[in-house]
Amino acid sequence: MKTLFGRLADGTEVDRWSLENGGTRLKVLSYGGIVQSLEVPDRDGRYANVCLGFDRVEDYVASSPYFGALIGRYGNRIAEGRFTLDGKSYQLSVNDGVNSLHGGTQGFDKRVWDVEPFTKGSDVGLHLYCTSVDGEMGYPGTLEVKVTYTLTHHGDWRIDYEATTDQATVVNLTNHVYWNLGGEGTGTIEDHELHIAASRYTPTDSGLIPTGEQAKVAGTPFDFREGKRIGRDIRAGHEQQVFAKGYDHNWVLDKGVTAEPEHVATLRDPSSGRTLRISTVEPGLQFYSGNFLDGSLTGTGGHTYRQGDALCLETQHFPDSPNHPSFPSTVLRPGQTHRTTTIHSFGV
Ligand code: GLA
Repeated sequence: MKTLFGRLADGTEVDRWSLENGGTRLKVLSYGGIVQSLEVPDRDGRYANVCLGFDRVEDYVASSPYFGALIGRYGNRIAEGRFTLDGKSYQLSVNDGVNSLHGGTQGFDKRVWDVEPFTKGSDVGLHLYCTSVDGEMGYPGTLEVKVTYTLTHHGDWRIDYEATTDQATVVNLTNHVYWNLGGEGTGTIEDHELHIAASRYTPTDSGLIPTGEQAKVAGTPFDFREGKRIGRDIRAGHEQQVFAKGYDHNWVLDKGVTAEPEHVATLRDPSSGRTLRISTVEPGLQFYSGNFLDGSLTGTGGHTYRQGDALCLETQHFPDSPNHPSFPSTVLRPGQTHRTTTIHSFGV
């Protein structure tokens, strides 16, 4: 179940854990909590790995655009890496022009997590632990994080995140899998069909920082309420798409924050028949259409990844929430436990 995947430059061992349940096969690295491979059958029972990734830990360290990784402390961008909380200003690590992206230069995607396997009834899984000390990447408070990956007897991949702090802070945890339901390295996702249960999205400035507006999707390329081919409107010339080089936006889920995970999005690949249904308690979903993949990376199957060869569906609180009081709060205080859950269900 556990094998040595590789070593970091300083000699630290990186393990790979293999799990199988309910027809789904999952491979997870202790480095970044990375989903290195996730295999599910197509309509004829043929398995394929539907996640982009690498074969060698060196490639993840050198040049991964967050393939399959856990993201923290804060998923997506914080403008100029700055925010104020309880009257105190904080300067975060900046790694995306002037902005802080996905937790800064050494986010949770670059940490080696402590991993503990478990079995619970007919489900199997991994607990992943990491501590982020006070001031790490500029964030206040020591954050204790526990992430649980469960592979259920239905073959669902469920993620439960938990975090506590000893000082007021902000937190927004997610996972950055790049999906291609036809199999990684098989080409564009433009023919995948996507449904998102959201009537609004958060438009951005040219640096992909939300303006604060929650704009209606109706009558725009951002309307996925009926489900549509991703390629249908991806070249519609909307200013927002020009900023992002495609889709790279946060959809404001109609259900809002919920106590239990609710179904918010469905992805379907007509050629293989594979489907992915996403349920979450989170109020937002970042749909990123793989715009920055530019043919410079070669993945697990030996194929180069080009623009639009995969997409991400990151359940989250809205980008830059610490600077937008009108967005759902991402503040976590001592004594509270941050809890969030996302479920990925596969089918044909
Ligand atoms: C997120 C961001 C994108 C991009 C990718 C990684 O989806 O919103 O802009 O940074 O991560 O390349």
